Amino acid sequence: MIEIHYSDQDLWRHKYDVLVPTMGALHAGHESLIKIAKLNGKKVLVSIFVNPLQFESKEDLGNYPKSLERDIKTAENAGADGVFTPSESVVYPGVVSEVLAGEIGDLYEGKSRPKHFNGVLTVVKRLFELTSPNSAIFGEKDYQQLFLIRKMVKELNLPVNIISAPTVRDANGLALSSRNIFLDDNQKKSAQVIYRALQKSTIDEMNKILSTEPNFKLDYLEIIDADTFLKADKTTQNKRAIIAGWINQVRLIDNMAVRAQS
Ligand code: PAF
Repeated sequence: MIEIHYSDQDLWRHKYDVLVPTMGALHAGHESLIKIAKLNGKKVLVSIFVNPLQFESKEDLGNYPKSLERDIKTAENAGADGVFTPSESVVYPGVVSEVLAGEIGDLYEGKSRPKHFNGVLTVVKRLFELTSPNSAIFGEKDYQQLFLIRKMVKELNLPVNIISAPTVRDANGLALSSRNIFLDDNQKKSAQVIYRALQKSTIDEMNKILSTEPNFKLDYLEIIDADTFLKADKTTQNKRAIIAGWINQVRLIDNMAVRAQS
C-alpha cells in the first residue's frame, strides 16, 4: 500500500531515496519519471503540490487540472512508495525565503512568465528541505527549469543529486504535458508542428516548418548552448533547440538536442 503524507512530520521514518516533484495531473510522462526514479533508489516519494508562486495569474492557477485520487493510483501503479501532498501552510509556513533565478531566469520562459522560475526554485528548495531525498528527478521537457534547478543545487550546495529524464511523447511526437488535456484532436494535430520543427538543424528551417501551421502562435524559438543556456554560436558543442508558443491560449513548450548539419 502506498503511504500518503500530508505533512513532513513522519517522512524521515520512511527514508525515501528519490523525490519526484510534481504538481499532480499525472500522465505517462510522470509515470516514466517514477519508473526511472525507482531504478535510482529503493524508495520513491512523489510530491503533489500546485505551487501558487510559479503561476502568473490566479486564473491560470485556478485552471490547473487537479485529480488527487487518480494521481495517487497512478503513482502507486508506476511503483511509487509514497505520496507527499502538503497544504500551502506546510510548504510555506510564515515568511517565504524566495530563491532568485537570476538572469537566466528572465530569458525565454522567464520573459513570458515573469518570476515563474523564482517560484519554481523556491518550491523545489522547500520540497528538498521537507523531504530530504538523496536524489530528485526532473523531466527534460522543462529544459530551462532543469538547467536552473541544477544551477541552484550547485550554487547553494544542496545535498541532492539531480537526475534528468527524457521527454515522453505521444505516437505523433507531441510532448506529454498536463496542459494537453485542454487541446482537442485538431489542436493536437496542429501542435505536432513543434516536433516536426525540432527535427531540423537550423533556426531558418525550424521557422519555415512552424510557419506552415496557422494555429500555432510562436513565442520564442532559439538554439542555445545547453551548458550555459546562452544563445549558441559556431563554437557551441552541445546545442539545444527550444520552442514555446500557444495553440488557442494553451501554452506549449518543447526542446531537443540539435543534430549537426549534414
Ligand atoms: O515541473 C513541475 O511540475 C513543477 O515546476 C515542479 C518542479 C513540480 C515545481 O512545482
